[in-house]
Amino acid sequence: MSFLEVNDLKVHFPVRGGFFNTIQDYVYAVDGVSFKIDEGKTYGLIGESGSGKTTIGKAIVGLEKPTAGEILYYGQLVNKKRLRKKLGYNKEVQMIFQDVLSSLDPRKRIRDIIAEPIRNHEKLTKEEEMKRILTLLDIVGMPSDALFKYPHEFSGGQRQRIGVARAVALNPKLIVADEPVSALDLSVQAQILNFLKKIQKDFNLSYIFISHDLGVVKHMCDYIYIMHRGRFVEAGTREDIYNNPQHIYTKRLIAAIPEVDAENREEARIKRIKVEQEYSEKESIFYDENGKVFDLVPISDTHYVAIKNKEDLGYVENSIA
Ligand SMILES: Nc1ncnc2c1ncn2[C@@H]1O[C@H](COP(=O)(O)OP(=O)(O)O)[C@@H](O)[C@H]1O
Ligand SMILES: [Mg+2]
Repeated sequence: MSFLEVNDLKVHFPVRGGFFNTIQDYVYAVDGVSFKIDEGKTYGLIGESGSGKTTIGKAIVGLEKPTAGEILYYGQLVNKKRLRKKLGYNKEVQMIFQDVLSSLDPRKRIRDIIAEPIRNHEKLTKEEEMKRILTLLDIVGMPSDALFKYPHEFSGGQRQRIGVARAVALNPKLIVADEPVSALDLSVQAQILNFLKKIQKDFNLSYIFISHDLGVVKHMCDYIYIMHRGRFVEAGTREDIYNNPQHIYTKRLIAAIPEVDAENREEARIKRIKVEQEYSEKESIFYDENGKVFDLVPISDTHYVAIKNKEDLGYVENSIA
């Protein structure tokens, strides 16, 4: 069952300038996206830098005010702080950022960092609070002596674990994870991803997993939204996206996944050139004359592509081997 529904969300930022600092233009950071979140599932939100991913995440957790559209939690609007509070939304929907160090107060000990959301939302005795924090540290695989240390005393991977402990402290239903492993070494990335998967089961969590790299989320996601220029260009299951990509932008992202095996690198390079060529040839099928992404249309029960004429896909599909 879907518990979160986002309908035609738009977030436009004014660009000011000139002598009187007046509004000159708008950045259409998010320009009409709709999706639903089911219990216990992982959703990928993938696109290059500047495509609007973080802005969607922030709008969901109430850190950015939508210009238009609605966000419904169990069918109820959560567009006001008062409503989010009343529905327990700000406990149940949490966000983790890429740059944990900057989101963790460097002057605070880990104990207080993890306790902060608990203190904001619940009234616990000191003992109850300590018990909860120790349990959380255990869940994220950190020793209890971490309690009295400061963020800078930990590695990037450990800090991410602390960030996760803080995010799950209030037993949320949904975590928006914004590039949570992008700053980490490859081996640590895998560790953290596995660990996020594991606690997903324990908490029956849903994730919105934001990344610029389709490779990172491949094994994580049940369903994937590909984002470009503030809109979704394609949406589908893992199989739809990785095995049967239709939009030229999705193909480009797939071709951009770093090739680990040295022997396949030359092949990958040639593929990338082909994809770039296809991109320039077929731009007019997938974007309107102003470069805007069309609305999504279904091509199967699960698979959606942003295209004006679905008929054009036959051509696209057959054109690359
Ligand atoms: N507070 C803001 N004011 C003005 N422009 C912003 C603001 N936040 C983001 N933007 C712009 O909105 C676009 C989308 O940004 P963002 O959501 O951060 O993209 P992503 O997370 O995909 O890299 C970018 O062009 C960015 O510069
Ligand atoms: Mg971002």
